[in-house]
Amino acid sequence: MTSSMPGPAGSGPRTVVLISGSGTNLQAIIDEVGQNRLPVELTAVVSDCADAFGLERASKAGIDTVVVNFGDYGNRQDFDRALADVLEDLEPEIVVLAGFMRILSSTIVTRYQGQMLNIHPSLLPKYKGLHTYRKVLAAGDRFHGSTVHYVIPKLDAGPSIIQYRVAVRDDDTEESLATRVQQGEYVIYPRAIEWLASKRVELRGEQVFFDGEPLREPKLINEGGVGPR
Ligand code: GAR
Repeated sequence: MTSSMPGPAGSGPRTVVLISGSGTNLQAIIDEVGQNRLPVELTAVVSDCADAFGLERASKAGIDTVVVNFGDYGNRQDFDRALADVLEDLEPEIVVLAGFMRILSSTIVTRYQGQMLNIHPSLLPKYKGLHTYRKVLAAGDRFHGSTVHYVIPKLDAGPSIIQYRVAVRDDDTEESLATRVQQGEYVIYPRAIEWLASKRVELRGEQVFFDGEPLREPKLINEGGVGPR
């Protein structure tokens, strides 16, 4: 199920990106690597969905792709085992969940703890799980955003590294809000990956350290801002 491609993009820690769909975050990461602004080797893109558009983005960039199609497995355990085997073979130093819409087994998460990041479209700890835009609008919140965090076995609960925050407008719809939040995701995700690759950010136990100091709250970029580098 692996397609052989001309060679991995970039150089640095071996980095595997897991996707399920469109892969616009993947594209932002590919672009940053291509511009030599993100020092990682994009070793492979793995999808749990055979028709994820992100696979085409990866192929176009010359990155190996692997499909572990959830539908091909009789049950969750077999899928988890197949995915674990694929990851083991790829020997990643960093695992990036970029719109990967399946909950990973705690075995996989524990195996890569401190090396695995996720991006979630909310200002965590608010609004874990699905439909965050709908929930924010229904609650009448003034702000929404997205968070890059370490992955731990509990869903969307790992320590946060950086957030992007936008003000909710009176006339916002789920779509308009998502568009603005996603623009910020393309900034904060490559940046967090760069920090992890260069070991500026580290997870020790449940505490994030940044430049050797405990990070008491996630770094923050406000809409239109540049934020910390
Ligand atoms: C992203 O906006 C990401 O925040 C969200 O899925 C989108 C994937 O888009 N992730 C989650 O909801 C995870 N719980 P993409 O495939 O275009 O990068």
